Amino acid sequence: MDYTQKLYAYLERINEKLHFYIDSIEEKSIVSEAMEYSLMNAGKRVRPVMALAFCEMLGGDIERVLPYACAVEMIHTYSLIHDDLPCMDDDDLRRGKPSCHKQFGEAYALLAGDALLNLAAEVVCGRFDDLEPHIALGCGKILFTGTGIDGMIGGQTLDLASENTQISLETLKKMQALKTGKLLTVPCQIGVLAAGGSEADMQTALEFGTAIGLQFQIVDDILDVTSTEETLGKPIGSDVANEKSTYVSLLGLDKAEQTALEMQKQALALLKPYGEKAWFLNEQVNALSTRNK
Ligand code: IPE
Ligand code: IPE
Ligand code: MG
Ligand code: MG
Ligand code: MG
Repeated sequence: MDYTQKLYAYLERINEKLHFYIDSIEEKSIVSEAMEYSLMNAGKRVRPVMALAFCEMLGGDIERVLPYACAVEMIHTYSLIHDDLPCMDDDDLRRGKPSCHKQFGEAYALLAGDALLNLAAEVVCGRFDDLEPHIALGCGKILFTGTGIDGMIGGQTLDLASENTQISLETLKKMQALKTGKLLTVPCQIGVLAAGGSEADMQTALEFGTAIGLQFQIVDDILDVTSTEETLGKPIGSDVANEKSTYVSLLGLDKAEQTALEMQKQALALLKPYGEKAWFLNEQVNALSTRNK
């Protein structure tokens, strides 16, 4: 199987399972419709794919990590719905379609985000699947700590506080590591846990996710300047319009590209000890460096 075939196999399984969870919602309403609209849209599914790939690299069964991988994607999607709201980045396009609040109005978009966060918790608590309690608890701790005030939400807080102001490189790194890095370390660590990996594997997942997370956000910041709305599926120039602090605004395009390349190399080096077993993740890292959306 080559990289593309493997990627599609992962995506198919992830999308099937996400559909299953959305279909399991009993009370259909405008909010459940908004949840489905944002979740089942054309997301790249980078985070759940990472979870499945890390688990499989360590010899684990992807079915064991799939619920948690889907929970990560639900939280990621809610973070995007809220990130696009007028009180935050005020962006009208997401994943190639009108943003959730443009389609359903702000109040329902807010609730759809809340409900996706809650649904992630329901998944991890085993509302829909027969889960092994110790894995569910471990994954829940990693997931909710990584996306809370000491994780993604903390990073989004720094992001808002860094608008219209000159911040240090130190603060920028911290902001990127929290707002984006955490949502990439989380799936790698969940993959390790579900596969029954070692402490050393857990440490690698942390370092790998941190490197790839920084790389991912730098590329996102670069694309905000260099890409087009049609390709990205979201508005370009959003960071400049909001006077955001990014790698590009602070260091310029060249230095931003150079740092992304360093992070790519770091991530690849961390996979070295796994040899051939890391083939998919190796290709994934390279694909993320050359992505155009
Ligand atoms: C966008 O994430 C938000 C960032 C952290 C940069 P993605 O680029 O993974 O967005 P989707 O899920 O493919 O829409
Ligand atoms: C958002 O970063 C990261 C989140 C935690 C949602 P951005 O604001 O740069 O993401 P985009 O560019 O809107 O996707
Ligand atoms: Mg933002
Ligand atoms: Mg944004
Ligand atoms: Mg961005």
